Amino acid sequence: LRRDGYQITSAPNRGYRLAGGPDRIRAGELAGALAGRTVGRELVCLETVDSTNTEVKRRAAAGAAEGLAVLAEEQTAGRGRRGRSFQSLSGKGLYLSILLRPAVSLAELSQLTAWTAVAVCRGIQSCCGAEPQIKWTNDILLNGKKLCGVLTELELEAESAAPSHVVVGLGVNVSQTAADFGPELADIATSLELEGFSVRRAELAGQILAALDDLYAAFPAGKADYLSDYRARCVTTGREVLLLPAFAEAVDDDFGLVVRCPDGRRETVTSGEVSVRGLMGQYV
Ligand code: BTN
Repeated sequence: LRRDGYQITSAPNRGYRLAGGPDRIRAGELAGALAGRTVGRELVCLETVDSTNTEVKRRAAAGAAEGLAVLAEEQTAGRGRRGRSFQSLSGKGLYLSILLRPAVSLAELSQLTAWTAVAVCRGIQSCCGAEPQIKWTNDILLNGKKLCGVLTELELEAESAAPSHVVVGLGVNVSQTAADFGPELADIATSLELEGFSVRRAELAGQILAALDDLYAAFPAGKADYLSDYRARCVTTGREVLLLPAFAEAVDDDFGLVVRCPDGRRETVTSGEVSVRGLMGQYV
């Protein structure tokens, strides 16, 4: 371990103490913190992979049990929503996907993505004290810029259309600099380090996996707690959104976005993306 960069102190008759470690994610370090939990009961930590979501899908097809978590130092083909690519620089972010096999209806499952946003915020907050917010439906922001993206993918059984498994993937920007983001992203993306929070990614991974496990244990019965936290963190409501156009008023009891149209009509939007005036350089 010392050879690998872990700082270990020792005292005669008192034993050893882990004083610090390298910023690397290792299953051995995470396993102890996650003992007894469903999420993270199998941990696969890779140096490089095309996409952790794709790797979980491959393993799910081969029969992996729910709770599998795949983490990678680097992704060569990280994916975002709507076919976009997700920048995944080596060692600078947390790239993590988990496999769930929830026995719930499709309607309930559609809310999992909003729950995930809450769990990720809680994990980040308990790791370093940062208080992330949520841009509906599940972009995680810090100080108005995107800190983390979530990609939830669902596999249905062809015969019954019943959900067979869900892959929840998330990418947290940890130590990127403004130069890492480049001019295109500099105004809309940020990292924990850029906002003044220095974290070890292994610690962050452990806290987020634990928060995801808490979520999964509460899903779907513990909705009230997640819904109120979601509403408290949601920065979309109370702002104009470029959608119809319309004004975002509230998040309803099913995590839908309630918007007021120019003619006074109210509509509920349940999926898709909205541009929010004044957030992430959008709709200004
Ligand atoms: C988005 O913001 O559009 C979602 C980005 C999701 C990125 C994460 S990184 C880990 C996992 N693997 C992927 O290929 N994508 C997700």
